[in-house]
Amino acid sequence: MSSPSLTCRVLAAPLQGITDAVWRNAHHAVFGGVEAYYSPFLRVEHGEARRRTLADVAPCSNTAPVIPQLLASPPAEAVLLATALRDMGYRDLDINLGCPHPPVARRHKGCGMLATPALLKEMCQALSRVDGVRYSVKMRLGWDAPGQWREAWDALEHIAPVQVTVHPRIGKQQYRGELLLDEFGQLLAQSPYPVVYNGEIRTAEQLRRVHERYPQLCGVMIGRGLAMRPSMLDESKTNSDCYLCFHQALLEGEAARLTGGEHQLLAHIKSLWEWLLPEADKRLRKRVRKASNMTAYRAAATELIVSSLP
Ligand SMILES: Cc1cc2nc3c(=O)[nH]c(=O)nc-3n(C[C@H](O)[C@H](O)[C@H](O)COP(=O)(O)O)c2cc1C
Repeated sequence: MSSPSLTCRVLAAPLQGITDAVWRNAHHAVFGGVEAYYSPFLRVEHGEARRRTLADVAPCSNTAPVIPQLLASPPAEAVLLATALRDMGYRDLDINLGCPHPPVARRHKGCGMLATPALLKEMCQALSRVDGVRYSVKMRLGWDAPGQWREAWDALEHIAPVQVTVHPRIGKQQYRGELLLDEFGQLLAQSPYPVVYNGEIRTAEQLRRVHERYPQLCGVMIGRGLAMRPSMLDESKTNSDCYLCFHQALLEGEAARLTGGEHQLLAHIKSLWEWLLPEADKRLRKRVRKASNMTAYRAAATELIVSSLP
């Protein structure tokens, strides 16, 4: 089946720990269909942009189109991140107003900033003074109440986002529970900014339905759906050849990136299987999880891919 995305702009959502440069490059090379990949959020650590995450968006490590994301934070931190990314050559940056992790939100960062509109306004005012950058925003309907998005518009005016991506839940729901689609419909009707929908799209059919239900969207963003089934935008690539190629690119890329030897590589690559091909045979998934060295791992992963896909 071919993708319904021919008329629909598809963006890849950031997934911390999964969609790093290696994953993005491999996905882009093997499966494609994504207009831009949003990086997992960057943040300030010990007064400077965290080096490991800056390295992830270094232009020399990225062959896929990437838009770096920064975690909404106090104005000075946000400006530091935006300036560092601008100086690396990025003109488009995304601001995370969606991270629901309680320790983050409690510090009024990420989604927590939706509950403190005055701080959000200060951050946006400060960011507007960083020259040569266009912003987009990734947000939820609120932190602890679904109407909090209404108060965000005033603040966002200062950066005039090129788009707002909305996950139709509040922060307190984390990544589960009911999608608040009535509230999302109100946001869509009232948004002065182009809106991208993000949430629970796992199949091409679900993508088509969202597109049909909300024709005024300027795109959809997909996270876990692509991590589980990277070929979901082009089912002609749901075959073992493409998945073996993707897997090989992940292995080679991560082996070159990680410096901690086989143990670290094994731990990282196994963690990707917490998402990848969840419907594959349980016994084979267990063999992958239990592999204690790279030889056993390669054999288990290859068997899993070959036996699960045509
Ligand atoms: C493990 C994990 C890590 C995530 N990391 C980020 C992140 O760094 N930045 C961000 O904006 N959202 C992050 N998200 C949220 C996703 O980008 C996305 O909004 C969410 O998963 C809902 O979309 P989906 O149903 O298509 O996955 C993360 C979600 C998960 C499950």
